[in-house]
Amino acid sequence: MNKYALLVLVGVIVLLSAALIGTLVFMTNKPVESRAVQVIYDIAPMEPDSELWGRNFPNQYSSFLGTGDNVLDTTYGGSSKFSHLEKDPRQVILFAAYGFSLEYNDDRGHEWALTDVREIKRVNETTPGTCYSCKSSDNPGLWAEMGMAEYDKMKFSELGEHINNTIGCANCHEAETMRLIVTNPALEEALEAQGKDWRTFSRQEMRTVVCANCHVEYYFKGDGKYLTFPWQNGTKVEEMYEYYTEIGFKDWEYPEALTPMLKAQHPEYEMFTAGSTHYNAGVACADCHMPYARDGAAKYSDHNIRSPLFQPERACGQCHNDVAYVTGRVAVIQEQVYNTKIATEDAIIDAINAIKAATANPASDQALLAEARELHRKSQFYWDFVSAENSMGFHNPQYVLKILAESTDLARQAQMKAAQAANDPSLLQVDTYYLNQESGALAP
Ligand code: HEC
Ligand code: HEC
Ligand code: HEC
Ligand code: HEC
Repeated sequence: MNKYALLVLVGVIVLLSAALIGTLVFMTNKPVESRAVQVIYDIAPMEPDSELWGRNFPNQYSSFLGTGDNVLDTTYGGSSKFSHLEKDPRQVILFAAYGFSLEYNDDRGHEWALTDVREIKRVNETTPGTCYSCKSSDNPGLWAEMGMAEYDKMKFSELGEHINNTIGCANCHEAETMRLIVTNPALEEALEAQGKDWRTFSRQEMRTVVCANCHVEYYFKGDGKYLTFPWQNGTKVEEMYEYYTEIGFKDWEYPEALTPMLKAQHPEYEMFTAGSTHYNAGVACADCHMPYARDGAAKYSDHNIRSPLFQPERACGQCHNDVAYVTGRVAVIQEQVYNTKIATEDAIIDAINAIKAATANPASDQALLAEARELHRKSQFYWDFVSAENSMGFHNPQYVLKILAESTDLARQAQMKAAQAANDPSLLQVDTYYLNQESGALAP
């Protein structure tokens, strides 16, 4: 190497170092935008008492407490626990002989989670402890202490003695660092089965994944009621259905039709991440449900998690200029999805009636009848995947309408197969169900 080249090289190195030092000095001199209050008290790992965390983070804590005060409703959601069965009595028929036909209320704020699970009529002496998995900040500590298998084996009443706190900071944060973490072992295992490690996820991805600790489809595996997410084949409705069929799982049997049924649970995470416009654009659950708020110079995430329609300026306006336009789109999308969903329900009820009649007929072709039941099972799970999801389609409108179209088609096929099985064309009758205000019964 000649002398000049060496000189140039040294010159370049000196310049680069100066630039780096300059940048560092500039960065440290710049006032940091304060996103959190200085940590004053030590918080024990997995501390279940949110109030203790709140001493360090008063803005996050007081906004979090707000989830206990929300009572207003939106057109399809909101924070009161209105009855889905009263709003749409078709669901009493669709869940016949299953707990959800007894009481099925809309979700409300995180502060209410523990109260609501203890009050619901679906809970009885046989209810497994597993039902507490998404309701309490005591869980991370209990899982670490006894392991999830032991936790899930306990009865609801027995486990309840160890549970004193509703959802809290420990469900989403690591106390030492305040970073977002996966706390539910079932989520950890479901991600692992897909070859994913959340510790490698970006911060933006964690702003969605942290909600998947609870806002997901799940089932209780085996006699130990082991909490399991059916994600082995993937998280699309098609892939979960395939999984349930492979393992021969059923939640209950439909009375008189004898169909082995599945109940879907709040699959917000799966619906949102199945290629929705927002997810593909890198938007996270927390962007809409926990928009930034300000307390003087401090910027913090609003922990009063609720419908974004109560504060669209902050929830949507951070990205969209025309807030009235996008909230108008929400109204249109939800109305279309709601009406399509009701048409699907009518089709499923027709299928149920036809299968019941064909089952009661001893001359029915049993092979065709079994096919009809399989179509009913699939149709209702697809419908429920949309119905039990809490955004009335907004999280992924195109996907939701595709699923409902398939579900309606499957239900009509089920009805036709049942008519064929019984060789009875009268079972092909198409009805629209409505509530008889006088008798209170649902009838064509
Ligand atoms: C682009 C904004 C946006 C994103 C991202 C988003 N949501 Fe929503 N979410 C909404 C809107 C709008 C509604 C409908 C609210 C209503 O009907 O009042 C909603 C409804 C809900 C509801 C029911 C609220 C109620 O009032 O009953 C839950 C629960 C929910 N979302 C959870 C999630 C989860 C979990 C994620 C991420 C997996 C997510 N959301 C991502 C906008 C969003
Ligand atoms: C530890 C479990 C858990 C985690 C984690 C969790 N949720 Fe929830 N969430 C629930 C439960 C349970 C309810 C229903 C409580 C009730 O109805 O009593 C709920 C209710 C909601 C509601 C309805 C509020 C209302 O006023 O109607 C929204 C919106 C919501 N969650 C969004 C989110 C978002 C966004 C995340 C992630 C940042 C998240 N949740 C993380 C368990 C959880
Ligand atoms: C349902 C999940 C959830 C719960 C429960 C929760 N947080 Fe958070 N928290 C989040 C999310 C999501 C963020 C945004 C993190 C990010 O942007 O990296 C956040 C951010 C924070 C931050 C960072 C500063 C900020 O505001 O963005 C602090 C501090 C914090 N939370 C404190 C708390 C405290 C204290 C509690 C209990 C009272 C709590 N959190 C409960 C999900 C949760
Ligand atoms: C963090 C940014 C962000 C937030 C917050 C956000 N959006 Fe969006 N939204 C986007 C992006 C990016 C797109 C993709 C199209 C585009 O580039 O305009 C989009 C697209 C949309 C579309 C068109 C959807 C489609 O399939 O073409 C609607 C409707 C919409 N958003 C409504 C809302 C509503 C309502 C809220 C608040 C509840 C909201 N958005 C919050 C970033 C955001």
